[in-house]
Amino acid sequence: MVNRVVLDVREVRKSFGEKVVHKGVSFQVHEREILALFGGSGTGKSVILRSIIGLEKPDSGEILFEGHDLTKMTEDELKQVRLKIGYVFQNGALFDSLTVEENLSYPLEAHTKLSPSEILTKVNAMLELIDMKGSNDLLPAELSGGMQKRAGLARAIIMEPKIILFDEPTAGLDPTNTKRLIQNINRLKTLGITGIFVTHDIPSAFEIADRVAILSEGRIPIIDTVENIRKSNDPLVQSFISEAMAQEKMSRIRHAK
Ligand SMILES: Nc1ncnc2c1ncn2[C@@H]1O[C@H](COP(=O)(O)OP(=O)(O)O)[C@@H](O)[C@H]1O
Ligand SMILES: [Mg+2]
Repeated sequence: MVNRVVLDVREVRKSFGEKVVHKGVSFQVHEREILALFGGSGTGKSVILRSIIGLEKPDSGEILFEGHDLTKMTEDELKQVRLKIGYVFQNGALFDSLTVEENLSYPLEAHTKLSPSEILTKVNAMLELIDMKGSNDLLPAELSGGMQKRAGLARAIIMEPKIILFDEPTAGLDPTNTKRLIQNINRLKTLGITGIFVTHDIPSAFEIADRVAILSEGRIPIIDTVENIRKSNDPLVQSFISEAMAQEKMSRIRHAK
């Protein structure tokens, strides 16, 4: 059975001046599904994610989140919607001057009526989930790159968003930290998260995702289950996967040096 549609992106077009980025991007994300979004560098993956949280306005098309069109919302309405959308940036995006605990508590203090002890309970449970138990009082600068990303992940999900947008969360991580982050995300998956996972890291995407969408030339010509993508003979799928795998391998070799 296919789950309910949480996000419905319909024929989104977007240009920056002369540069046409999206020529009609359409896809859906279902509840409890992780959709991996692949695409070459500069194809507009981040712009899609930014459009989903209302930081970019498409020139035309609709983005329905739980049935409501984000592209027609006022800034105040968008603020409410953003509380239901988690965004995991490339660089953890933690507040530098706040400790890990303060970083995680902040959204709960600002947007919920939970008591300080309820907040602490939630923060500690979250730290345990991301293998960072006891790191409460550390500052972001005292964390390794891998820990910063996991803390960024924790902060994005502590509000229990309806959908989580991951923008290349494993970029810049070594294989060990990549594996750890992927394990953390897989653990979240068993709790039933819904998300879009933008990445060049195809092995990780295959491990996490239910379906894969490929963004190419301003559209999504291919969207299918991981199983079908793996065995696809489609030239676009094949060339994309082999190219991305080669790039990934190169970056691992660079890391190992
Ligand atoms: N705010 C902006 N102003 C002008 N051009 C932009 C802006 N944001 C993105 N672009 C351009 O749109 C294209 C897609 O960007 P992006 O979504 O960041 O690509 P990627 O798929 O690598 O995430 C790029 O050519 C980028 O230069
Ligand atoms: Mg990007």
